Amino acid sequence: MILNIYDTADEVLYALAEYFVATGNEAITNHGKFSVALSGGNSPKKLHELLASTTFADKLDWTKVYFFFGDERNVPQDHADSNYLMAKKSLFDPLYIESNNIFAVDTTLTPNEAAQKYAEQIAEFFDDDEMSFDLVLLGLGDDAHTASLFPGTPVLGDVTPSVKAPYLESKQIYRITLNAPLINEAKHIAFLVYGESKAEAVHHVLEDEENIEQYPAQLIDSIVGEVQWFMDKAAASNLEEEY
Ligand code: 6PG
Repeated sequence: MILNIYDTADEVLYALAEYFVATGNEAITNHGKFSVALSGGNSPKKLHELLASTTFADKLDWTKVYFFFGDERNVPQDHADSNYLMAKKSLFDPLYIESNNIFAVDTTLTPNEAAQKYAEQIAEFFDDDEMSFDLVLLGLGDDAHTASLFPGTPVLGDVTPSVKAPYLESKQIYRITLNAPLINEAKHIAFLVYGESKAEAVHHVLEDEENIEQYPAQLIDSIVGEVQWFMDKAAASNLEEEY
């Protein structure tokens, strides 16, 4: 685990954008393409806009970038809560990403069917070989969830890489999510966490005794590489150790 802590959210976003581009160019050099699973929620929107800006847009061959989603809400792709719609508006459209480079969850199906189809699409993309994304981007909820791995849900106990459709009692909605074993197969994993509201969760995940049921983000531990945390000082403000 490597912590990258900056004074401001803008500095965090810039650093992660640089990391995204560096990781992408490394993947394209090594195996001709860059597979990335985007995170949802609000935090990534500014990262997407920065990647699509004149500062970064010409630093990566976007025709060789393949976009997946770490999780998706069980809503239509034109719904305000859709992670796909947020990425479409903030990243795919501004960069003119071809539809063949985008793997959205098919939320026209039932949640379990959507999860099953997504797992098949991922397996096919990786030629039924090891399903190892070059980069998985993650956020952190105030309750220490990541992707749609929420406290107290059965998916936390998974041991085989897959895609699941947990029902969230608290939100009365299904989600479709990569499970932790699939996320952990990734060559690079990066958390994007900024703002005071995340400080308690950051402390629990990084410094408390292991308690997966309560702090699901503790499940994230790359098998092949390091997990990078990109945070501002506000989100890191409850950390007790010096990093
Ligand atoms: C989602 C996400 C989720 C998100 C966290 C943080 O679909 O909501 O994938 O795991 O990353 O909830 O969300 P914010 O960035 O909005 O705080």
